[in-house]
Amino acid sequence: MRQAGSTPLHVDLRRYLRETDEDRDLTRVICEVADATKYIINAIRTGDLGMAGTSNLYGEEQLALDVLSDRIIRKRLIHSGVVSCIASEESGEIQQIDPDCEQKYAVAYDPLDGSSLVDVNLAVGTIVSIYKGCDVLRPGREQVAAMYILYGPRTTLVYSTGRGVHEFAMNSLMEYTLNHENIQMSNGAAKIYSPGGQRSKYSSGTEEFARQLEAGGAKLRYSGGFVPDINQVLMKRNGVFMYPHLKNAPDGKLRVLYELNPMAFLIEQAGGAASTGKGRILDLQPRSIEDRAPIFIGSKESVALAERCISEAG
Ligand code: F6P
Ligand code: MN
Repeated sequence: MRQAGSTPLHVDLRRYLRETDEDRDLTRVICEVADATKYIINAIRTGDLGMAGTSNLYGEEQLALDVLSDRIIRKRLIHSGVVSCIASEESGEIQQIDPDCEQKYAVAYDPLDGSSLVDVNLAVGTIVSIYKGCDVLRPGREQVAAMYILYGPRTTLVYSTGRGVHEFAMNSLMEYTLNHENIQMSNGAAKIYSPGGQRSKYSSGTEEFARQLEAGGAKLRYSGGFVPDINQVLMKRNGVFMYPHLKNAPDGKLRVLYELNPMAFLIEQAGGAASTGKGRILDLQPRSIEDRAPIFIGSKESVALAERCISEAG
């Protein structure tokens, strides 16, 4: 097996997974998603930006692009032969694929997060959470892998199987090749912060947290896309993203299964932290695939400060 940090840049994703001794079936799941994203990129670049005429589980109208991206990934996962069940943010149920599921992988994903941003030509992403076994309704700490793909000026893929966080970038042959191995966040006061939700709806604890970040010199960086916003915090190695509990939305906005768990897994793997403001995201026991929770995620010190401000405000 390779030693961390010893891999030449530009090795491709499949080879990297093989050479770092990842499980063959897990490699298959990761590579199926990676392959699917080539078609999603094409859909983003050229696809119909209209409505699909349907709505998702949350009553939100679905864009044709959401539905198409979901289909592209779903089809690949179903035919991979290594997936037990699938939950997608765009469908209202867990799809069982194989009853012989113990040794297979359960996958939850958000096929095209932030899809309404395509309209204004901002970056969007795909987020994937992977468990071993038959079920996705489990605490995020049980994930065996998580990944996201960011469709920005460049397309990048970030994954972790619990052994560090690695970034790959798509090259001109549409292959993902290694860009950064073992990304580690630094500590210290946040240099950037990414605050979701209307400030007038913040609790006094969150308001105090935002105030302290600003007093500490943190610069505002919020695009409205969870994947690019998290990616910026991760790749700058320092900063914090939040989508807090709001006066009119005590659970915030983002979904535990499809958004929070995979990002929390990745950021923790990079030496950061992710909290609801009261406790670790990865310890949440989801009751349903629809669960939402507030999130404060990024450098450890900033997440600890958020928890402190919230607990002191009562
Ligand atoms: O999936 C939800 C999402 O689009 C995320 O990508 C993003 O972080 C968040 O919503 C933005 O929400 P708002 O528009 O309320 O800032
Ligand atoms: Mn989403």
